[in-house]
Amino acid sequence: MIAIASDHAAASLRIVVKNYLEENNIPYVDMGTDEAPSDYPLMAEKVCAAIEDGTARMGVLLCGTGIGMSMTANKCKGIRAAVCTETYSAKYTRLHNDANVLCMGARVVGEGLALEILQTFLETGFEGGRHQRRVDMMMALEHTED
Ligand code: RB5
Repeated sequence: MIAIASDHAAASLRIVVKNYLEENNIPYVDMGTDEAPSDYPLMAEKVCAAIEDGTARMGVLLCGTGIGMSMTANKCKGIRAAVCTETYSAKYTRLHNDANVLCMGARVVGEGLALEILQTFLETGFEGGRHQRRVDMMMALEHTED
């Protein structure tokens, strides 16, 4: 299951992404929003909560730049969010960082490129090995209360 959300700046890209997921039979849950204006941290928090509780294995967060969504998501437990504006980063953030949230900016990438980035992100697996050690080191920096 892929959890997706956007703020008002990326509402139309969210529809394009949803259409892609439907056409490719990829299950998803749409966490909004259709409100305008809207505050992107609220949607980022919802998607990250869905990953943390196991409802979703990955998330897609869309805003104007992708940056606010990624900053917020990376404060949530267990999240490794990456802003991607081209396919090389989408490929390597999966291979090397085991990224579980893809962030994109609707004011940065066109719809066609956004779908290529999404496809690359979803189709690429984590390489593990030496990269697992580094991901473990990264996640050890997380401040948890439990
Ligand atoms: C909204 O205007 C914009 O600030 C938001 O979509 C996003 O780009 C923030 O990072």
